[in-house]
Amino acid sequence: MNNLESILTENRVFPPNPAFAAKARIGSRAAYDALVAEANSDYEGFWARLAREFVTWDTPFSTVLDESNAPHYRWFTEGKLNASVNCIDRHLPTKASKIAIIAEADDGSVREITYQQLHDQVVALANGLKSLGITQGDRVVIYMPMIPEASIAMLACARIGAIHSVVFGGFSAEALRDRINDTGARLVITADGGMRGGRMVPLKAAVDKAIENGCPNIEQVVVFERLGNATLMAERDITWSALTAGQPTTCPPVMVDAEHPLFLLYTSGSTGKPKGVQHATGGFLVNAAMTNAWVFDLNDDDVYWCTADVGWITGHSYVTYGPMALGVTQVMFEGIPSYPDGGRFWQMIERHKVSVFYTAPTAIRALMKLGDEVPAKSDLSSLRLLGTVGEPINPEAWMWYHRVIGGERCPIADTWWQTETGAHMIAPLPGAIATKPGSCTLPLPGIMAAIVNDEGELIGPNQGGNLVITRPWPSMIRTIWGDDARFQRSYFPEKLKGYYLAGDSARRDNEGYFWIMGRIDDVLNVSGHRLGTMEIESALVAHPLVAEAAVVGKPHEIKGESIVAFVVCKGDRPEGVAAEAMVKTLRDWVAEQIGPIAKPDEIRFGDNLPKTRSGKIMRRLLRGIAKGELPEGDVSTLENPAILEQLLGK
Ligand code: PRX
Repeated sequence: MNNLESILTENRVFPPNPAFAAKARIGSRAAYDALVAEANSDYEGFWARLAREFVTWDTPFSTVLDESNAPHYRWFTEGKLNASVNCIDRHLPTKASKIAIIAEADDGSVREITYQQLHDQVVALANGLKSLGITQGDRVVIYMPMIPEASIAMLACARIGAIHSVVFGGFSAEALRDRINDTGARLVITADGGMRGGRMVPLKAAVDKAIENGCPNIEQVVVFERLGNATLMAERDITWSALTAGQPTTCPPVMVDAEHPLFLLYTSGSTGKPKGVQHATGGFLVNAAMTNAWVFDLNDDDVYWCTADVGWITGHSYVTYGPMALGVTQVMFEGIPSYPDGGRFWQMIERHKVSVFYTAPTAIRALMKLGDEVPAKSDLSSLRLLGTVGEPINPEAWMWYHRVIGGERCPIADTWWQTETGAHMIAPLPGAIATKPGSCTLPLPGIMAAIVNDEGELIGPNQGGNLVITRPWPSMIRTIWGDDARFQRSYFPEKLKGYYLAGDSARRDNEGYFWIMGRIDDVLNVSGHRLGTMEIESALVAHPLVAEAAVVGKPHEIKGESIVAFVVCKGDRPEGVAAEAMVKTLRDWVAEQIGPIAKPDEIRFGDNLPKTRSGKIMRRLLRGIAKGELPEGDVSTLENPAILEQLLGK
């Protein structure tokens, strides 16, 4: 845990840059404290004020927070709204010709889309979806490259009250099929392919394979012609251009209840099956818009760029809904940071004069390794604010980001949040809060974060414990689609007094700053992507030659964590060339079952796994072995201690 140690000894403090603070929406610690006090003294009044400030309601809400059916909290009930109106229509009177999206493709070609064009394309697709019989409440799966049409598809669903579920384009056909079936979607929107790092991503082929393997509810597939090479199936497939051609130029938005589900997004948990996190329209939009304004301090003249894919929550809150609710100009990038070379991000910042840049620690670490001379070739003077998300950022990477990318003038917003929280929870307001490298700093006003022990009792400074949120907030998860019992069990365990359990451990320092330490459950964080160890284990044991498997994480310099799998094969334990071949087979297999992001970095074979006498796999020991350490301490409960040396390769 080098990262944790360095974080524990970190004591540098960076006060807000006065030039930044002078123009910021929330420009002093006193202003932050006043907002916190407002939320503390009148919680509902505070959120009602923000909900009115950031969201346009078709019918005003009358109840702010309904806690009568906890933990099924309801926000802004009786209120009606449409998310696409909030992201597009309401800007048109003043911003029709403002650029909404600067889209840079993998090959460097650039398209610009104004808010008016965004409107027209969303409306055309929404009408197209209606013509296919999609109506309010229907689920639509979106499996797209990182191109504007991904956001357009999301907004078109929102316009007609359909519930979208975006599946990251890096997931395999198998993973896609499981998600399609869990949502019960009738329709998939995809593209003939995408481009990443000069390579084609065969999205349509994956959709075909998913359906071939059994998606009984899917009636139709809409195919955006990104490459122009789609093979279409007569009855089922329709191209995006054919569907949208000749559609009416208006599409009355369906005004939905505040609690109407805006989307489902699958994320990993402690068990094998991903969870379909359900978000509500009104509350989600309030927090998404408000955090983009407060944490990123976005203004009309900013050029904002969030590098996340729309397949993750960051792409929902900080690419599609949040920035568009504020009517800002943003960059969208199809490709990867290393193509055609490791200067791509910095060249793009110069090319598009990006002022607010939001990326992940894993990207920062990978680009830092290439040396300061790479970013030095680009003019980064347009930047005024930097953000990070996805995992704890180690102070070394934070300092590099600050010094080399931010020119020591840009505040860094280290934003802690989750798929389930919908929006930033703990993050510095950049004009108000002094930052410390490696800390996500203080909860946003209105977010009641705390550290508690396993009994739900508050614990003091500098002690690690469970990170919880003690009061409901508007953009919180509403349930797990199709598994409400799991929702209650995972996030509101009885002994925690009704607090929301984030699943992270953290500590607060003497000044109340939060330092995230890592997950408390069997969830890995690989390059900022959440992967359940059980999910990878289930994939491994599904292979006909595998008898048993256990997966653990191991600290990794760039990815944060890497995936190490311990595998027991049916028959003899493979050795030498046979082991090498089996490693390749299993890595490819996991890529096929889940996606390349879940491929184990390392696979070790054993005759058995270390188990207790009751048969429970001792992961604690495997985590040590993955790091090359023979476990110290008590192994007396182990059924088969000799296995440890074999797995260690001694
Ligand atoms: O462990 C925390 C880590 O990522 C988890 C949430 O993952 P996901 O739902 O995929 O959402 C990622 C984007 C919000 C958290 O439980 N995490 C996220 N941001 C941070 C973080 N850990 C430390 N610092 C962060 N800023």
